[in-house]
Amino acid sequence: MNAKKLAAEKAVSFLENGMTVGLGTGSTAYWAIEKIGEKVNKDKWKIRAIATSLRSEEQARSLGIPILSFAEIDVIDVTIDGADEVDGQLHLIKGGGGALLREKIVATNSRQMIVVADESKKVKTLGKFPLPVEVVIFGWERTFEKLKKLGCNPGRRMNQAEPYLTDNGNYIVDCAFGEINDPAGLHEQINAITGVVDNGLFIHIASKLVLGFENGNTQVISG
Ligand code: 5RP
Repeated sequence: MNAKKLAAEKAVSFLENGMTVGLGTGSTAYWAIEKIGEKVNKDKWKIRAIATSLRSEEQARSLGIPILSFAEIDVIDVTIDGADEVDGQLHLIKGGGGALLREKIVATNSRQMIVVADESKKVKTLGKFPLPVEVVIFGWERTFEKLKKLGCNPGRRMNQAEPYLTDNGNYIVDCAFGEINDPAGLHEQINAITGVVDNGLFIHIASKLVLGFENGNTQVISG
């Protein structure tokens, strides 16, 4: 069974015709966008969407899902997005796909964020997955050093021989901290560094988690 697809499709069952929806990024959010496309095309749902990355926007447009800008909407009803790790309090690490900034802007402007993930993403303590941090290119070397001083092993993300660039034209530094015992505190410390745009810790943002399991089950956990 495709656990990611199961979780994503279950999450779409919480949507309603007429909603404004935030579209996440990644291989799990992909399935949610496909399912929303089906609702628009087969069930003639009137959905308006805002995408968290250029690739999700492209996928949505190819399915005929109307994409809007923030200037055209008041509030997003529900955002469905994936995660690299999720803990028992629904705190997340995101940004494995490089879209953390747009993802956080969309999620924090949504009435509800539903996280979709396969069972492997559920952890007791965040931090096994290196924390993605989006940094501006100007002075990135100094920003990198300051991140290292917070106690992590940082690596600038690469795209083959070139530095990886986000949709916003910034770099990503992946910061291996190991166990993160105070995610809220670390979030504040990282974002206090000038040159950091934002980091992949999502604290008290997600309100529901839909997990998919290889055996075909899904589990919904509300925060
Ligand atoms: C992209 C993200 C993704 O949601 C996260 O990386 C999970 O991706 P996938 O669903 O492919 O495992 O944060 O920036």
